[in-house]
Amino acid sequence: MLLEAKKISKKFPGVQALKDVDFNLKAGEVHAIIGENGAGKSTLMHILSGIYEHDSGEFYINNKLTKLNSFQKAKKNGISIVFQERSLFPNLSIEENIFGASPPKNKNIFFQIDWTNLSKKAQEYLDQLNMTINKKVLVGELSVARQQMIEIAKAISNDFKILILDEPTASITLQETEVLFELINEFKKEGRSIIYISHRLKEIKKIADRVSVLKDGEYVGTFNSPDVDIDFLVNKMLGRSLENKKFNDISSSEDEIVLSLRNFNGHGFKDINLDLFKGEILTLTGLSGAGRTELAYAIFGYVPALNGQIKIYNKDSKINHPKDAIANGIGYLSENRKELGLFIGMEYRENIESNNLDKFTKNYIINWGKRDKVSNELKDKFDIKIPHIQQLVLNLSGGNQQKVSISKWIYANLNILIVDEPTIGVDVGAKFAIYKILKEITNNGVSVLMISSDINETLNISDRILVMFDGKINGELKSDEANEEKILKMASGL
Ligand SMILES: Nc1ncnc2c1ncn2[C@@H]1O[C@H](COP(=O)(O)OP(=O)(O)OP(=O)(O)O)[C@@H](O)[C@H]1O
Ligand SMILES: [Mg+2]
Repeated sequence: MLLEAKKISKKFPGVQALKDVDFNLKAGEVHAIIGENGAGKSTLMHILSGIYEHDSGEFYINNKLTKLNSFQKAKKNGISIVFQERSLFPNLSIEENIFGASPPKNKNIFFQIDWTNLSKKAQEYLDQLNMTINKKVLVGELSVARQQMIEIAKAISNDFKILILDEPTASITLQETEVLFELINEFKKEGRSIIYISHRLKEIKKIADRVSVLKDGEYVGTFNSPDVDIDFLVNKMLGRSLENKKFNDISSSEDEIVLSLRNFNGHGFKDINLDLFKGEILTLTGLSGAGRTELAYAIFGYVPALNGQIKIYNKDSKINHPKDAIANGIGYLSENRKELGLFIGMEYRENIESNNLDKFTKNYIINWGKRDKVSNELKDKFDIKIPHIQQLVLNLSGGNQQKVSISKWIYANLNILIVDEPTIGVDVGAKFAIYKILKEITNNGVSVLMISSDINETLNISDRILVMFDGKINGELKSDEANEEKILKMASGL
């Protein structure tokens, strides 16, 4: 066995994140770890890579008891990790980020970085990932998907034996996922091992040799991937099976247009003509770089459009700032929860407050009791795993942070809610809960403009689908005529 973890336990204040968890990894295998949001997957990976110390338990590498109690030690043992929450420096260039704290050094001059070599090597890793991109560009200027790919380039720049990928595909699209899977297969052939965490169970069936399941911090079991099907895995994860429900019972009324765009142009998109009906879920789909998020930024006034017409409830409107959008009853859930979606260092209830201050305030006085009550209600509604509403959002698992990010908007007074990849990192059970809630608000007259790269999500809950390619809308499909093949064709420009 290349790696064995025995009886690993870890407690955080108020939460037993891991309890006597066993895990083992063979050389040259892809071993997936699955479990609900908050099950303890990332915590185990943080311990394996020396970021967190564990309370008890042992690690064996090649049957030798080994301490992994610092990032450096883990690295020395050949462990490299792609974190679920990106860890890049936005103000450094792509090539600088790839090498992080250990850039290639000049042999002759002490402490000097060998820039020529750094550039050359960075290019090799970008080529491996099939990325054509100017490596001098600052990482902060890249889309979330591209940042994720740089994060992967950074991890493979270490000479690793074990590569941990914690939800690597949550924010990338199909085309990048394919590239990653090819690379993983190459690593396997070289006898290197991958620990792969994902909520996309289809991916796991495709790529994993074995699958281990965690539930509420406890080890459930390890299974050979070819021997089990997705339903079986869901059952192990949730302790129940999922009702297989399609959600597009049409709730929209095609007679009332709440938002319309005509000849709308801006950074990353052009000639957009679009109508959003009252009470519908209209989905924008497409490959990464198609201009969907840029379009959402313009509607919300975060990066205003250059020209064109925007009508809200049939009235010409100007949206130059998110304030204008909010005043018009438009909300926007960002795909980038860490930087744009949450006040990550603040309490959960303060995050709820931030979007709903008007509802909690009367005569300039905030009703704290009401805020706490609503925070508790939303916590139950979205099943947010949190010991108390004062918990810092920073300390929540990735999927639970995503649930906070969406719950903030649900209680607000809105006519139009734009949701950009609403279920990034959310487990299968919680996904269905979110779909139900989105359907509930559309039934109450809110219109939802959804951006999604998740094909099942797109097919399951949309009333209509618009496919974008290269900044333009390349086609429209009604939910009953849509299928994966049609969408993929339109998304690749056909
Ligand atoms: N630094 C921390 N302080 C306090 N609690 C924490 C901290 N990190 C994680 N936790 C808690 O430990 C539990 C396990 O979290 P973890 O991030 O490992 O879950 P996960 O399985 O990766 O979930 P997800 O699928 O949402 O990413 C959660 O209840 C989480 O809130
Ligand atoms: Mg996690």
